[in-house]
Amino acid sequence: MGIKMIVLNTPEDVGSFAADLFELEIKARPACVLGLATGSTPLPLYRQLVARCKEGRIDFSRVRTFNLDEYEGLAPDHPQSYRRFMQENLFDHINIKPENTHVPDGLAADPEAMFADYERQIADCGGVDVQLLGIGHDGHIGFNEPGEAFELGTHCVDLKPETIEANKRFFEGNEDLVPKQAYTMGIKTIMQARKVLMVANGKDKAEIVKKAFFGPVTPEVPASILQMHPDFILVGDEEALSLI
Ligand code: F6R
Repeated sequence: MGIKMIVLNTPEDVGSFAADLFELEIKARPACVLGLATGSTPLPLYRQLVARCKEGRIDFSRVRTFNLDEYEGLAPDHPQSYRRFMQENLFDHINIKPENTHVPDGLAADPEAMFADYERQIADCGGVDVQLLGIGHDGHIGFNEPGEAFELGTHCVDLKPETIEANKRFFEGNEDLVPKQAYTMGIKTIMQARKVLMVANGKDKAEIVKKAFFGPVTPEVPASILQMHPDFILVGDEEALSLI
């Protein structure tokens, strides 16, 4: 137990470090299972993975992936869907097999069955070897917002009015077009990963990073549960880690 923290100069350095870790994992276990995230923080990492795959340094042909989350009601090819984000920023540019990539289905007719199936597929692959996470300003991980029970697996969440308001810029500025719910791995799913790697960049993450990892473990700060994970590593730039 105990958190490992790595402070690096820039977001690009954070991306390279995370890419080194993924590269080592894939070389050690070519059929490893990676848990992936969307958002802006993982982008330098994904650019590195694409470059290293093109150079022949990383072979994704046997790698399996499971993403954290997806908006309810968005088709895979919707410009704001997390499936599309993953295709455009990673999957379309590496030699991963499409059938080995998993993102919760935003259009599932029976969401409960889809959640059970998602958990079963992760288990059938032997569990997640390395789970990548970003952190929200309120301490959310995946779409697990403050107050969410720690013991949930993949489930549906109602988006907070603040989240809907913040996201409307991606939906023609129209609140009505923003999904009101999302599907996310739960804290339990995340905690079951063998290794968890969180990336954090920028001054605006400094307060929450301090609160999550030097404050009490509480559902009010979902990321704080990672203090209890046996193999958790936080990699951040100087700004994000400036208060610790
Ligand atoms: C993304 C996700 C979110 C983000 C978080 C931070 O799949 O689940 O929890 O990791 O909102 O986002 P960025 O990296 O854009 O600051």
